[in-house]
Amino acid sequence: MQAKLEMVKALLSGGGRVVVLTGAGVSAESGVPTFRGRDGLWKHHRAEDLARPDAFAAHPELVWEFYNWRRSLVSGCHPNAAHLALAAMERQIPNFLLITQNVDGLHTRAGSHKLLEMHGSLWRVRCTVCTHAREDFSDLPDLPDCPVCGHLLRPGVVWFGEPLTPGVLRLAIEAVGKADVFLSVGTSNLVQPAASFYQLAKDHGAVTVEINPAPTPNTGFMDFALHGPAGEILPELAAGLGE
Ligand code: APR
Repeated sequence: MQAKLEMVKALLSGGGRVVVLTGAGVSAESGVPTFRGRDGLWKHHRAEDLARPDAFAAHPELVWEFYNWRRSLVSGCHPNAAHLALAAMERQIPNFLLITQNVDGLHTRAGSHKLLEMHGSLWRVRCTVCTHAREDFSDLPDLPDCPVCGHLLRPGVVWFGEPLTPGVLRLAIEAVGKADVFLSVGTSNLVQPAASFYQLAKDHGAVTVEINPAPTPNTGFMDFALHGPAGEILPELAAGLGE
């Protein structure tokens, strides 16, 4: 393991373009439940069954209650060593981009700026009818109204079955296609298009690295698989990078 870590560290300090993809596993050590882990249930509902436009259309109050619970849970959590190490990498690696599937905002709170939030943010809301959208960290009612047109607001996240924001997807694909080193951290690699980013990176000649305590469908295709928690491995990779 130590030899692999040193090799990956050498790649990160090689001056090339580094793209990191993160998933719910980076926030696990902050106490945020992962989607498909044992603690991914809320009131007997699977997150995947609530994070959908049809669930919101049928039961908006239930879906908002779920999102308000998640907002309140995350507001009591703090960035962990993995988030901080990624923010440190951004400062040390001139050509760096972090792409996250997470909506918890913990990368921003850790100090990451070169960041694409592919699935939106828990801290954004937008109107279901008009163009009103805003950042909002306040306590929201279970059926919040748009201050402009009075219709229902919805969480500013991308749900299953919805397209990603085109500009965000384009930027992510461009960066992954130009990466020299591609790191996939804390994602089960079950949700597209992020699950295929490693393939795009590899096709363009990048070295691919996975960090996860458990294997994923992509593990066997990666150049390096570092098995362990992101909060332990990322700080080791980030330590002394800029020296
Ligand atoms: N460090 C690194 N990885 C971890 C850790 C940890 N400490 N703890 C758990 N993991 C890994 C798990 O082994 C798993 O592979 O994190 C992964 C979490 O997987 P998911 O819960 O499926 O989350 P993610 O891959 O981010 O899901 C993708 O699916 O539900 C949608 O939109 C939602 O963004 C989400 C997307």
